[in-house]
Amino acid sequence: MSFGNRYTGLIHKYRDHLPVSDDTRIISLGEGNTPLIRLKNVPQWLKKDVDIYVKYEGLNPTGSFKDRGMTMAVTKAVEAGSKAIICASTGNTSAAAAAYAARAGIRAFVLIPEGKIAVGKLAQAMMYGAVTLQIRGNFDAGMELVKQVAEHVPVTIVNSINPFRLQGQKTAAFEIIEELGAAPDFHCLPVGNAGNITAHWMGYSEYFERGVVSQRPRMVGYQAAGSAPFMRGGPVAQPETVATAIRIGNPQSWEKAWELQKASQGWFDELTDAEILQAQRLLAMQEGVFCEPASAASLAGAMRDIRSGKIPEGSKVVCTLTGNGLKDPDTAISQCQSAVLETLDASLGEVEKSIVKHMQGL
Ligand code: F0G
Repeated sequence: MSFGNRYTGLIHKYRDHLPVSDDTRIISLGEGNTPLIRLKNVPQWLKKDVDIYVKYEGLNPTGSFKDRGMTMAVTKAVEAGSKAIICASTGNTSAAAAAYAARAGIRAFVLIPEGKIAVGKLAQAMMYGAVTLQIRGNFDAGMELVKQVAEHVPVTIVNSINPFRLQGQKTAAFEIIEELGAAPDFHCLPVGNAGNITAHWMGYSEYFERGVVSQRPRMVGYQAAGSAPFMRGGPVAQPETVATAIRIGNPQSWEKAWELQKASQGWFDELTDAEILQAQRLLAMQEGVFCEPASAASLAGAMRDIRSGKIPEGSKVVCTLTGNGLKDPDTAISQCQSAVLETLDASLGEVEKSIVKHMQGL
């Protein structure tokens, strides 16, 4: 057994693959190195012989994959002498930006759509000390404002249009390859701005070009039906979905996404809110893994495509679970009407009666 191998974040681990030097002051919270969990019950439930793994990015320090990108973006912003960062966000980017800015000792400005981000994400932005600007408008409006304001004031944009974000996020593909010993056959992700699917393809391609692996996966991206510009063939003016993290009508990485779709022979598709929430519940109840609604789009889509045979039996599939379920307790509780939640007197008789009732049939 070896001791003292403390994991200190993805920039340290993958510095040879990232644009940092020995002098770079690394801003890290120990992000990356997330579990790749092999599903046991869902494939049985589907009655299909497929290997499904979920990459549980919700276990990053601020509870989403954004930390992978933010450690790089903030490290490089600080290296360039920036005193402030800014982003538009549906919640997770703002949480990550706020946390890494706090760690670095710089200021974060976050623009969020008023009333449309999950409560945990709002708590994070405020708790980490970001200047939190709620706009009466959606993410896409916020993104345009961020681009404009950054031309007038000295702030570094840390949305995924900042190329260092994708550099950090590509490391998730490295981790998957290292764990599986090869790339999966299919990699399924929820798509908002399409930064993360682009970053994964970069990561797979880098290991492919270095000869680490001989194959790359087919990349599959899923949007929510009410926010599915890729399926509509153009921006959606009023995106809507319960999966607020991907409530985006004008993806910032539009061209890159379609290029990688072609190059990887993958596809994009859309899912209803009901399908997304069903997959979220299934994953929690059948596998003990709690992700936020947007994240469940990857599994919902994979399940549909496995059922139809588009993803054939015998395949190895990775679904990225982009964010932690705890971020959005309101949506979780609102769909738990059938959960067992009883209110009792604090008496042995009442508690015992309830337990005996629920033990029946076990
Ligand atoms: N899943 C979650 C939980 C997200 O927060 C996001 C994006 C995505 C998926 C989509 O990733 O944009 O790279 O295609 N959230 C951004 C934010 C927009 O502001 O937190 P993408």
